[in-house]
Amino acid sequence: MNPPRILVIHGPNLNLLGTREVDVYGRVTLKEINLLLGREAALLGVKLKIVQSNHEGKIVDLIGEARGSFKGILINPAAYTHTSVAIRDALLAAALPTVEVHLSNIYKREDFRKQSLTAPACIGQVSGFGKDSYILGLKGLKASLDLDKVRIKMGKRPTK
Ligand code: DQA
Repeated sequence: MNPPRILVIHGPNLNLLGTREVDVYGRVTLKEINLLLGREAALLGVKLKIVQSNHEGKIVDLIGEARGSFKGILINPAAYTHTSVAIRDALLAAALPTVEVHLSNIYKREDFRKQSLTAPACIGQVSGFGKDSYILGLKGLKASLDLDKVRIKMGKRPTK
């Protein structure tokens, strides 16, 4: 059987990790995060497609095209988390199991970061564990896909 495919989306400015606001995000680069994700994916038996974009419309397009090709989405919408009705609506329309991740704890920062417009369209959110938010998010997403497989085999509806 082919491994389930998961779409990983990094939102705006995450290409600058490593040099960007290191007090908040640390010195880990996006390339390192992607390598760690690749290693974890191999352990979990999933296949990743990883994309970074600074453009809201591009992210909406990626989510819109994901149905049919991917079993789930792991997304750090970055600043769009707090502003993008379009990305939230795209996630709701795609109706794929999705996990939202953030390097920083968005609830410990400025008030405008405490609201996520996108999280209500997700199974769950991991926030505040730095690069490990991605690893934990991927594990959570895989566990949820496994549970759904078992439920479908038993003739039950998926959890979400
Ligand atoms: C972030 C948190 C957002 O508030 C911010 O705009 C980002 C990164 C995080 O991973 O901690 O760009 O999503």
